[in-house]
Amino acid sequence: MMNIAVLASGNGSNFQALASAVKRGYIRACVKLLVVDKEGAYARVRARRLKIKDIFIDPKRFRTRVDFDEALRKLLKAEKIDLVVLAGFMRILSPRFVRAFKNRIVNIHPALLPAFRGEHAIKRALTYGCTMTGVTVHFVDESVDHGPVILQGAVTIKAGTKLSDLEKKIHRLEHLLYPKAVKLFVEKKLHVKNRRVTIR
Ligand code: GAR
Repeated sequence: MMNIAVLASGNGSNFQALASAVKRGYIRACVKLLVVDKEGAYARVRARRLKIKDIFIDPKRFRTRVDFDEALRKLLKAEKIDLVVLAGFMRILSPRFVRAFKNRIVNIHPALLPAFRGEHAIKRALTYGCTMTGVTVHFVDESVDHGPVILQGAVTIKAGTKLSDLEKKIHRLEHLLYPKAVKLFVEKKLHVKNRRVTIR
């Protein structure tokens, strides 16, 4: 069975959605580990409730990003991790780390990439006046919010939509799409060629 590590920095609702999907048997894999880079991340509370091991790696202990990533890589190797799931992990991973887990790191972004890469994507789509935005699950490559697209889903933005309502809509969609994408990975149904991911 594949071992999954989830990396998060904050709330961890996507971590929870994945762990629940595993628990109900939708995904046949093991969520072995939650790693956070913020000591107070709420995702840790969820991990304890779910009885999933959680580890805090303190970025302050490392001189450089590469050193942090090397500690992370060693930990994931020791835990025999097959798939790294980024779920609101607000750090950029160094090229060496990405290469070590080539096409085995996935990320979720709250916009239709390549639109609104980076932070505050939901708010930026709303203030831009978009009538549509959405969610992207993608493989991680060496550039930020850039790797091959696995799944995307769209949501419409009606006139007068409040940010909090749009956020709710986006998160609901994330909690559907992310388990779906991870299930496809675990079942070895994702095939990457150049930027194109085919599902078969
Ligand atoms: C999610 O909306 C995710 O798409 C976003 O952080 C949130 C984490 O929520 N990620 C990014 O913006 C990455 N650029 P969660 O902690 O409740 O899963």
